[in-house]
Amino acid sequence: MRKFFLFVLICGFVLFISNCKKETKDDNTYIPPAGTSVIPSSAQRTGNAATGYTYLTQGNYLNSGVPYNVYISAYGADNANVLNRAGDNAVVAPGFTAVDAPNGVRVVAPNCMQCHASSINGNYIVGLGNAGGNFTSDQSSLVPLIDFAVTSTYGNPSNEWTAYEPFRKATLAIGSKVITKVIGVNVADKLAAVLAAHRDPQTLAWIDNAAITIPDEVIPTDVPAWWLLKRKNAMFFNAMGRGDYSRYLMASSLLTMVDSSKANEVNQKFPDILAYINTLQPPAYPGTINTALVEQGKTIFNNTCSKCHGTYGSGGTYPNLLVELSTVGTDPKLSSAYDQSIYNVFKDWFNNGWFGKNPNGAKLVTGNGYVAQPLDGIWATAPYLHNGSVPTLEDLLNSSQRPAYWKRTFVDNDYNYTKLGWNYTSPGSKIDNFTYDVSLSGYGNQGHTFGDGLTADQRTALIEYLKTL
Ligand code: HEC
Ligand code: HEC
Repeated sequence: MRKFFLFVLICGFVLFISNCKKETKDDNTYIPPAGTSVIPSSAQRTGNAATGYTYLTQGNYLNSGVPYNVYISAYGADNANVLNRAGDNAVVAPGFTAVDAPNGVRVVAPNCMQCHASSINGNYIVGLGNAGGNFTSDQSSLVPLIDFAVTSTYGNPSNEWTAYEPFRKATLAIGSKVITKVIGVNVADKLAAVLAAHRDPQTLAWIDNAAITIPDEVIPTDVPAWWLLKRKNAMFFNAMGRGDYSRYLMASSLLTMVDSSKANEVNQKFPDILAYINTLQPPAYPGTINTALVEQGKTIFNNTCSKCHGTYGSGGTYPNLLVELSTVGTDPKLSSAYDQSIYNVFKDWFNNGWFGKNPNGAKLVTGNGYVAQPLDGIWATAPYLHNGSVPTLEDLLNSSQRPAYWKRTFVDNDYNYTKLGWNYTSPGSKIDNFTYDVSLSGYGNQGHTFGDGLTADQRTALIEYLKTL
């Protein structure tokens, strides 16, 4: 205890000195590159990472779902237990958690790992965005089957039906509204907006008939890696997530919570999940690395890329820039959605309701453009750009080479160690939902041409360096 106290004192002192240093530097104020602006930081609540991990993987932030026995008989037991969970959860797939509903019935509910965990080369990694999710069909089409199973096993009315009902209602409300045209892209932005439409902004109580109108279009996104968050001053690809991060994390609970009394409870616990997320490190590149090439690549990176993406290794810096659309040139749809009729009513619902309330309120602030993300562990997070439209780093760094239609196997070791990213074929048209089609609205692969001026050799060296981040 004493030693710990001393440590805190010393750290405090070191921090104090380094702060002083910063202040003396302030006269040559940092000027961000043209076409970019610095994202300001927001204060965050602190929490306990170990408690956060337990809550993330076993907690009841969602507390309605399919009754446990119905789930097991429909999906079977998953004996891999990649999360090393105990009890009922030991045989539940990692994207689900067995929890008690408010009336004590054991149910199985989806959790954050649905979208925020994934396998690469056989390793299951919590925090690696799931770029293999399939949202191309209406999830609510399963509801009649579950209804039948619950009714025939337990009857209706029954405690089990009551425990299942909020989940059922939400699934019916969102199912047809969160459909993508391609497998692998995510719907979280639309999901949040549709759930908000069914909730009172202040009490968060469920409203059967949507109170606000959200247009049908679904804007596809990739899922950012969790280990990047600790370096960022705002959440989300367009940097709109300002204020208290824990508030955003708990937005998932909107799926099934009864009202804000549950939100207030969950709100106390999410700083622990944030603390856990902030401990995550990127996975190391598993292939071979040519160290002589890395040195060349590092120089190219520092000359061409670091002004936006920062520097890496000890003493690394990260400028936290929002890069204007006219500078980055990538698909504009997501960046502008919150200021146009697509999600703007959601923004008002959020900022003026329970989520925006102080203390520790959150606020969606929209700009024009996208975050130049930190590139830690970039080898593992293909496909690239905010909409996952580019399958490999080599293609990203040479825009004329990017495929208009590309199809991958979604097998987690079908990885290309030369191009860094997923192996793919180019079918020439959208032959199925496994085929990414960049001509679809919001799915464009244009822009970010910053690698185009490099020679093939320079690009190879740069890719070698990117393996080490
Ligand atoms: C349906 C899929 C889905 C679920 C479930 C989900 N997320 Fe997300 N999450 C996303 C997507 C997609 C984004 C990026 C959205 C964007 O930037 O437009 C995101 C963004 C985030 C970010 C911001 C990362 C960054 O660097 O900007 C954090 C942190 C996060 N989610 C945490 C959580 C937690 C904690 C849970 C569970 C309580 C959760 N998410 C549940 C899909 C999901
Ligand atoms: C002017 C600022 C700027 C410069 C210079 C720049 N980038 Fe980017 N980069 C961005 C922005 C902004 C994004 C996000 C664009 C989006 O998702 O639509 C991005 C995205 C990326 C991504 C995809 C990240 C992901 O997770 O999908 C990679 C990889 C990347 N940049 C690498 C590089 C490399 C390598 C260079 C140097 C050749 C470079 N960038 C130069 C601004 C920049």
